[in-house]
Amino acid sequence: MTTKTNGPRLGVNIDHVATLRQARGESYPSVVDAARICLEQGADQITIHLREDRRHIQDTDVESVGLVTKKFGRPLNLEMGCSDGIVEIALAIAPDWICLVPENRQEKTTEGGLNIKDPTNYQKVLGVCQRIKKKLPGTRISLFIESDKETLDRLAGMGKLIDAVEIHTGHYARDFIAGNDLRNHLSQYRHAHDQVKALGLSFHAGHGLTNESVVPLLEEKIFEEYNIGHWIISEAVFRGLGTVVRDFKNLLKQY
Ligand code: PXP
Repeated sequence: MTTKTNGPRLGVNIDHVATLRQARGESYPSVVDAARICLEQGADQITIHLREDRRHIQDTDVESVGLVTKKFGRPLNLEMGCSDGIVEIALAIAPDWICLVPENRQEKTTEGGLNIKDPTNYQKVLGVCQRIKKKLPGTRISLFIESDKETLDRLAGMGKLIDAVEIHTGHYARDFIAGNDLRNHLSQYRHAHDQVKALGLSFHAGHGLTNESVVPLLEEKIFEEYNIGHWIISEAVFRGLGTVVRDFKNLLKQY
């Protein structure tokens, strides 16, 4: 028998609503409406990634989506790279959560976790966390990282500067779709969970997940939060397409 709980938190990443909008340079589809619908339907937070190249989310979106999350009393989670310009915007907007991610202009999407094994990168990330916590002590910080022990070992030196890690699940998600053995991923996530919880940090997951690939992770009961975007927005297209075509045909029939 399964006991019903509230389950882990769901952060819905609405970047790709903005991708559709930017593809045509129109004012629709609206990320404000997308955020409202997600929150009305129970999403625990809205996640958006303000990329340096502004390929989807724009600066004004961060403010307007922030007003929606505030109205619902739920967190805005801003994913961002560590560049000075983006940090300045984050400091001005004061989101509830900031998730620091690596960013590379050539990539289609975030391709992996922050490389904090590299001392220069580690110092850079640490410096950004210090700046954020100094100006915005109430904003919580999560680091998007891989789950290998060497990476996790670096977290101990960050003290109270960070509040959570988000484990990059992209490789796991690809292996799930390819039908590959997932046991190594799952065992690594279990070890990572123990190491992260021993530091008193929250344990989140995100990237590439679908309603199917999330299930083995849910069964592990180790992740407190999932941030999911591309699959949710893609699936929403198909769940809505029939209704929209039917309504359009009905409109044409009136003439
Ligand atoms: N978490 C982080 C840190 C991300 O960079 C992304 C992609 O922007 C996601 C979660 C969501 O990934 P997806 O869109 O593949 O569900």
